[in-house]
Order: sequence, then C-alpha cells, then structure tokens
Amino acid sequence: MRAVDDLIAEGVSGRRVLLRADLNVPLDKSTGEITDDGRIRASLPTLQALRDAGARVIVAAHLGRPKGAPDPQFSLAPVAARLGELLGTSVPLAGDVAGEDARAKSEALGDGDVLMLENVRFEAAETSKDDAARGELADRLAALADVYVDDAFGAVHRKHASVYDVALRLPHAAGRLVARELEVLTRLTTDPERPYVVVLGGSKVSDKLAVIEELLPKVDRLLIGGGMCFTFLAAQGHGVGSSLLEADQVDTCRRLLAEADGRIVLPVDIVCADRFAADAETSLTPADAIPDDLMGLDVGPLTVDLFTAELVDARTVFWNGPMGVFELAPFQAGTRGVAEAVGAVDGLSVVGGGDSAAAVRQLGLDEESYGHISTGGGASLEYLEGRELPGLAVLAD
Ligand code: 3PG
Repeated sequence: MRAVDDLIAEGVSGRRVLLRADLNVPLDKSTGEITDDGRIRASLPTLQALRDAGARVIVAAHLGRPKGAPDPQFSLAPVAARLGELLGTSVPLAGDVAGEDARAKSEALGDGDVLMLENVRFEAAETSKDDAARGELADRLAALADVYVDDAFGAVHRKHASVYDVALRLPHAAGRLVARELEVLTRLTTDPERPYVVVLGGSKVSDKLAVIEELLPKVDRLLIGGGMCFTFLAAQGHGVGSSLLEADQVDTCRRLLAEADGRIVLPVDIVCADRFAADAETSLTPADAIPDDLMGLDVGPLTVDLFTAELVDARTVFWNGPMGVFELAPFQAGTRGVAEAVGAVDGLSVVGGGDSAAAVRQLGLDEESYGHISTGGGASLEYLEGRELPGLAVLAD
C-alpha cells in the first residue's frame, strides 16, 4: 500500500489530489452546529501535509445518510467552515459533488488551496450496489483530479464510489490517518502484549457477535456492559425485567459463556429505572435480581470497581461501546468510570470509534490518556472481525 508521504516525496506541487476523508460528524438537531469535530481534526495531518507540499486538494466526504439527492440538512457547509477555521484558510464548498460547479472550482484551485465537494451521498450512485452506476460517478470524480488519497478510515468498510471505485481509476495512496489506524489495529490482532482485555458495550449483542467470536480466542478477559449485557445475564438464567433483551441470541450467549470458561466478565450491579428518561426514578439492584417492572440503563458502581480491577494490570485494551445510556445524566457514571479505567491502563489503550469516542469527548475525559481513539466505529470492528474492507483492499495494489 503506497503512503501519502511517498506521493509527497515524489512531488505533488501543482497536482490535483482527490482526498477522501471521513468528516461524518454529529450535528446538533436544533442548531445544526457540529457537536464533536474529532473527525475533522483527525483529517488535518494529511490535508496539511498535502497543502504544504503544494498540492491542490479536493476533499470528498459524506455526512449522514441522505437519500441519494441533495438535502440541505446534510450539506457539508458547516464542515467546510470548520475545516477552514482549523486550517486557517478559506475552504470553499462546491455546489455539487462532481458536476459543473465542482469542475469549475477544482480547475480554479491554486497550489496549496483546498476545495470541498458537496456530500457525496447527494448522488444516489455513491452507495449503489450497481457497479456501473458507481463507476459513472467514480469517472466524474476521477476526472477532477490527478491522484487519489484515501484517508477516510471510518468509511473503508463501505464499497462506495468515492471509497472504492475511484481508486480503480487514479494512482492512489493511503493517508496518514488510515496508516495510523492500521498500525494500531494490527497491534491488537498480531501478538498483543498481555494481559489483553477487551471491553464491549452498546445496545445490541447481535451487532457485536462477530467480533466476540473472533476476539474470544485471543483475549485474556472480555468485559461486557451496556444494553448487550442483559442477553448474557439472561443466558445465565437471570431475569432482566424490561431491559433490552435479544431473546433469539440467548443460546448463542450461553455457548460463548461456556467457551470463554470464565474469561467473560459480566456486571454485578445495575442502575435501573422504570422508564427511559433523564428524570426517571433510579434504583440500584444486583445484576441477578433485576425486578420485573424495571429496566437496566447503566452498570453500577460495584461493576465499575470490578471492571477497573480487571483492567488494572492490562497491557493492551480495546474498548468499544458505552456501558449505559450515557447521553442521559443519571446513566453515565458506568461509562465514565470504565472509560477512566481504560485511560489509566499502563500500555496500549484503544477506544473503538463511534459512541465510545463520542462518550470520551462528551464526558470531558482526557483524550490524551488513551493510546489511540479510532475514528472508525463500524470500520474498526469489521477490521477486528478479520473481514476484508473494500476501501483498504483496493489501495493494496
Ligand atoms: C461512520 O460514521 O461510522 C462512518 O462515517 C460511516 O458512515 P455510514 O455508517 O453511514 O456508512
């Protein structure tokens, strides 16, 4: 896989570089403001290196999941503005993805300038399963530039026109963020320093089954919290009240518990409420005695102590998924406590993107205490599952 720094060493001054970045940031529903610019900041090293080398950078990115047509609420305008602030330069936004305006604006770029294309998902072809449809869009994107750099780690698991097909049409290289993410994830899959502890949370066990199956033989301990713990508790024969339960996964969880032979660690106490609301009345119950009329919405303090003890001697940790409904104040202590224990680890601590990365920032935790905060939620999980990621496979040759 060629690296963007090889490209730079060969000389990119005056060349038009199509840079795919993952700038899919959360926006405040009422104000439309960016609530977490972590992915924009993570894209800066590659962007700045290209600018410094005199490249003319055309950034392609997606935001949210528009329905294959322009939709103002998914415009990249706020992202272009924030990127411009961070770079200290103006970043104009093309009015289309790869049409007249994108062509005219890309031709007008000077050395070191940056242009952002409008949300690539405004074109239905971007996410199409039809190779010819994606190919037509990729042709138009490729025509804007001389070379392609993929730094969109969070999107490499998608076989989309701007991630996959365009790399078939232009000389290509991987950006610095993609290189860093791969370096860290490889350390998790290849001979990790031990003890190796994985912490998984999030709502659905079915989303995490593949990664559990893959990681279980490799880890020393697997700590499970979040909504998914209730299906495991049910598999141990406990009632879980009205907590989230995937009844069709109970047998699988029972098998995994047997295979783990004590290495899967489950919560011992649960913060419950009668409803899913910030002002609900809460109570703390043992994990094996959740009352029928209550639902578990966070792990309790004894669980935080237990998980902290399991993490204290770890040399490698991967954490993906919150321990509870951290968006609601009464149910955030579990995620905060476990996140702090992960950050305190003396070794490599990796936060798998998505909700866990958002939790670190929203709870005001020290980002520097982690070895790496991945920008890819789905992408890092699929990588750890051992699956081939189309956006990486296409860069390999
Ligand atoms: C993400 O947010 O995980 C990536 O940007 C990919 O977005 P997607 O799940 O909508 O493809």
